[in-house]
Amino acid sequence: MRLAVIVGSLRKGSFNRKISEVYQDLAGEEASFSEVEIFALPPYNYDVEKHGIPQEVRRAEDIIRQCDGVLIFSPEYNYSIPGVLKNALDWISRVEQQPFHAKPTGIVGASPGRLGTARMQYHLRQVGVTLDMRILNKPEVMITQVDKKFDHDGVLTDEATKKILRKHFEKFREYIDQCRCHLPG
Ligand code: FNR
Repeated sequence: MRLAVIVGSLRKGSFNRKISEVYQDLAGEEASFSEVEIFALPPYNYDVEKHGIPQEVRRAEDIIRQCDGVLIFSPEYNYSIPGVLKNALDWISRVEQQPFHAKPTGIVGASPGRLGTARMQYHLRQVGVTLDMRILNKPEVMITQVDKKFDHDGVLTDEATKKILRKHFEKFREYIDQCRCHLPG
């Protein structure tokens, strides 16, 4: 199973990036992962688009087309989707035969706060409607107080978080199989 990973934070020490790394470790050999490098994408601009879709967007498109499912790991900014993530989704939405169509998609978010990116996740689900994503409903993974869940060496020490990440992976894998059964042909 090939999964595309999108991380909605560009900062080096990102908790969401660390969570995505733990998720991949917990999946082990059961999946391969390719990152859609959203930091490489220019700010969306129709004046750029009308001269052709940029190469970086094409690379993102290829990864998404070729994968069996997309995993989005993201913080919440000002109660919503970080601009860099929204920018990436906006660009990718502009290619012909939009690659998120019918694509199984999973959302995971982590925040030092008490709502664990819940508001961002519901805004992302709304965007997923226009992109026609197939977003896994449950389990919802909203990791609260993430700054207290890693030790000084950056190792995730919270067992409950590891457990929900592994559970999400297992459910997502089953969900991808179910979505395949409903695709024509
Ligand atoms: C935040 N943060 C934040 N946290 C949250 O739970 N809800 C929010 O609405 C916001 N808003 C917000 C806006 C901006 C501009 C910044 C920079 C930060 C805090 C945020 O969750 C925290 O910085 C995380 O550590 C960011 O995720 P990464 O980079 O660690 O993955």
